[in-house]
Amino acid sequence: MASKISLTLPSGQKMPALGIGTFETKNDEEVEAAINVALELGYRHIDTAFVYQNERPIGKVINQWISSGKLKRQDLFITTKLPLIGVHPDRVEMFMKKSLENLQLDYVDLYLIHFPVGYKYQEGGSHMFSVENGVALTEPKTDHAAIWKKMEEQVDAGRAKSIGLSNYNISQITTVLKSARIRPANLQVEIHVYLQQRNLLEFCKKNGITVVAYSPLANPGFNKFLEKMGSKTRQLPDILSDPVIAKIAQKHKKTVAQVALRFLLQIGVAAIPKSVTPKRIEENISIFDFNLDEKDMKALYDLEVGEPARIADFKVIPGVEKHPDYPMK
Ligand SMILES: NC(=O)c1ccc[n+]([C@@H]2O[C@H](COP(=O)([O-])OP(=O)(O)OC[C@H]3O[C@@H](n4cnc5c(N)ncnc54)[C@H](OP(=O)(O)O)[C@@H]3O)[C@@H](O)[C@H]2O)c1
Repeated sequence: MASKISLTLPSGQKMPALGIGTFETKNDEEVEAAINVALELGYRHIDTAFVYQNERPIGKVINQWISSGKLKRQDLFITTKLPLIGVHPDRVEMFMKKSLENLQLDYVDLYLIHFPVGYKYQEGGSHMFSVENGVALTEPKTDHAAIWKKMEEQVDAGRAKSIGLSNYNISQITTVLKSARIRPANLQVEIHVYLQQRNLLEFCKKNGITVVAYSPLANPGFNKFLEKMGSKTRQLPDILSDPVIAKIAQKHKKTVAQVALRFLLQIGVAAIPKSVTPKRIEENISIFDFNLDEKDMKALYDLEVGEPARIADFKVIPGVEKHPDYPMK
């Protein structure tokens, strides 16, 4: 079942409200298979990032679909992101071009600054962050105006149809807005039933910024990622076992995941659940044939936990918390 709802960006572009996320795919074969399944099922919105190191296999599949005539480029909405090692005015264009080369595309639909903290770039170094002798090599305070100017140049050059932000807080978005010639079209942040981010959503609405919810299922696989990064695992909020959502799901003959995703669409945000499991990829997009009523929505609103339910605090990245632009203080 195809995604039937979309958000309209300030440029007039339509972003399908349900897309597929691709963070932490194991290898090229896995992500290629997942994207093929997703496209067959009607997904037209794909979220990737330079740091996920899977732009190349994703681009390969997209181009196969386009060259075989099954899809046109304009049928797709592709988002990728400037890595933390690119958060410097001198490196925005370089990383934008690297992503386009990886994706084998002339343009992306949306280019986001992944995180408001910059790390030094070392040729041949880590794709994620830079550390030397155990010391994090961060850039000094982020020059939001200068970086945003470089992002705007990517639109001027036709490399990105729209540009936006990810993991920025209200004060940081306000700073960007002050100098923006092209206003941010989108904010991508963690949002799910336990972390609803109501103030941030209200702020974005007032400022004409569309919002995409990442980790919309509160990423049940996150501890595997922490382990891989050598970090301590922690108790994570468990949306999929929530009895309140289970009851609503039963009423609509849907799954807990489907209700959790439908809730996000009905509060006006897009969602990009990640899955490499064909059955779940199908489950996650089969949310356009039911409607949560007022009572359901009230019960779901009441599940708000707030900050303690945040999964992605980025603290696995050495030195990030100490940076003046760490957004989640
Ligand atoms: N901008 C940012 O900083 C940022 C940060 C985090 C994420 N993101 C983006 O947002 C996407 C989604 O977030 P996420 O990957 O963190 O978390 P998520 O989508 O909430 O959860 C993904 C996890 O849930 C499992 N899953 C998916 N559908 C399921 C279902 N119907 N039932 C049970 N389990 C299910 C997946 O397993 P399987 O894959 O094994 O099926 C995977 O382990 C990412 O992939 C990425 O594209 C962006």
